[in-house]
Amino acid sequence: MAYFSLTEDLKVGNSFIDQDHQKLVDLVNQLHTAMAAGHGKDVLGKILAELIRYTREHFKREEDHMQRIAYPGYAAHKQDHDKLIREVVELQNKFNAGNGMLSVQVSTFLRNWLVNHIMKADKDLATAIKKMAA
Ligand SMILES: [Fe+2]
Repeated sequence: MAYFSLTEDLKVGNSFIDQDHQKLVDLVNQLHTAMAAGHGKDVLGKILAELIRYTREHFKREEDHMQRIAYPGYAAHKQDHDKLIREVVELQNKFNAGNGMLSVQVSTFLRNWLVNHIMKADKDLATAIKKMAA
């Protein structure tokens, strides 16, 4: 049983968003598994870097889409994204400067953040996309 699964209730019903979220979930699982297996700084650092890179790419995709449809919730949604990126980059800086340990709280934090963000902000966005396409 994976640490984190994109269960049905976490799907927003938009294929590009759900596909991106699946990949994010996979990366959080990879990080969690590597931490649990006691992997060192190299392995954890690479997964963390890829997670940040992909998160930025995904946020940009959502933000570009919001702008294309002149989404009224754009500013608030982008603020959520920016805040998360700031927090994760800070975490990465601490990790890079430290002894290569990552606490399990990191994967818990990422999982909780994603669940909360998907359930509200991304579902609202998906609903707006659907309405506009109708
Ligand atoms: Fe989002």
